[in-house]
Amino acid sequence: MLLGTQRINAQGHLEIGGCDTVQLAAEFGTPLYVIDEETIRANCRNYQAAFTKRYPRTEIYYASKALLTLATARLVAQEGLFIDVASYGELYVALQAGFPANRIALHGNNKSRAELEFGIESGVKHIVVDNFYELEMLGQIVQEKGVEVSVLVRTAPGVDPQTHRLIRTGQADTKFGFNIADGSALRAVQCVLGTPGLHFRGIHCHIGSQLLDADTHTEAAEIMTRLMKAIVTETGATVEELNIGGGLGVRYLSSQEPPSYEDFAEKIVTTLVADLDAAGLPHPILALEPGRALVGEAGTTLYTIGAIKTVPVNETGGTRTYAAIDGGMSDNPRPQLYEAVYECILANHADQPAEATITIAGKHCETDILIWNTQIAAPQTGDLLAVQTTGAYNHGMASNYNRFLRPAMVFVANGQADLVVEREVPEDLIRHERIPARLRE
Ligand code: LLP
Repeated sequence: MLLGTQRINAQGHLEIGGCDTVQLAAEFGTPLYVIDEETIRANCRNYQAAFTKRYPRTEIYYASKALLTLATARLVAQEGLFIDVASYGELYVALQAGFPANRIALHGNNKSRAELEFGIESGVKHIVVDNFYELEMLGQIVQEKGVEVSVLVRTAPGVDPQTHRLIRTGQADTKFGFNIADGSALRAVQCVLGTPGLHFRGIHCHIGSQLLDADTHTEAAEIMTRLMKAIVTETGATVEELNIGGGLGVRYLSSQEPPSYEDFAEKIVTTLVADLDAAGLPHPILALEPGRALVGEAGTTLYTIGAIKTVPVNETGGTRTYAAIDGGMSDNPRPQLYEAVYECILANHADQPAEATITIAGKHCETDILIWNTQIAAPQTGDLLAVQTTGAYNHGMASNYNRFLRPAMVFVANGQADLVVEREVPEDLIRHERIPARLRE
């Protein structure tokens, strides 16, 4: 499986964005997040085009939680996308990157007063409200400040996507949004309409992540259309915008086949337009919030292989060979959290047949297996391993566990590599720490 601009060059090395990964590792060290800039650009354009040509009133928000650095925010801004942020910090980084505030939506299921005030003061496009507590606080803030704020009401449509239980969000039993079936969503809309300073803009749902078909999205579109109808009937208000969230999956394994952007858009738009027309509703702005779909396959993590050992497996009477890399759960916690699966390539022997069955182990004091029983060219200590599809939810979820230093990140394009995140240094580990006086003696 080669993704984006990945190819194997004449030296038999994996190349990304025209850069030889062996040289990248030599120059920037490992572990290294390598981001394929052209692939993100193409994804932004193609995702936008797939929807816009079927539904001209489309607005695409990049779900920044998937990968937010100053450089990524700039890149998606250049591509004409909007952005969604889900915390004070994400809003801060997007603004620091120069992302226009009027193209930012502010999310969060338990926003603090400080977050709401920061959003309002920066002039974000709208705030996606999640619960009645937030609505009340927002109402107070806008009154105090004498400002107007545009609001989307986040709903839980009660659909249950096929994905890991920890990344499902559209079902009724969720911490996110206002339940539709029990009438909370409609009450929230009425509450927004009745609160001076709040402008009701529309409704929102996000049903889950890494979805490998469009079925739950079309189901959600139907439910959201019914809610729109109820809003019009009960309140007379117009729903100017319908946001159906992100969720389209990517290829972690060559056996996975997420729908193409075109198929995904076709299914959603066809259902939505048919439902809107049948309900006699005007076509609202259709907003989407893809995160993983835009950046997932554009990321590759490079590691150096260290210890290799073969151990007996008593259950089978066979053996297992572990190859340990110089990273693991601190740069990619997804296997531990979601039993996430990955593929990898021996980047310095990418032209050799993947004949060995190897288990890729991290180097933390945990059983942080990154990939169980994967097929690669027989590895040796010192080889370079490229784990694919690490663009989404890796850098953002990285930690300093075991006091590891978070990796550097480079953007590669047309043979050029630019450092966009510096590798942490040991001083970073203690930068915020203090020793109380009584412990200094
Ligand atoms: N919009 C909202 C409101 C969301 O909560 C999310 C993701 C997205 C959009 C983008 O979803 P995507 O297009 O990336 O599927 N850390 C997990 C994924 C958590 C997703 C959280 N919300 C993982 O590593 O799989």
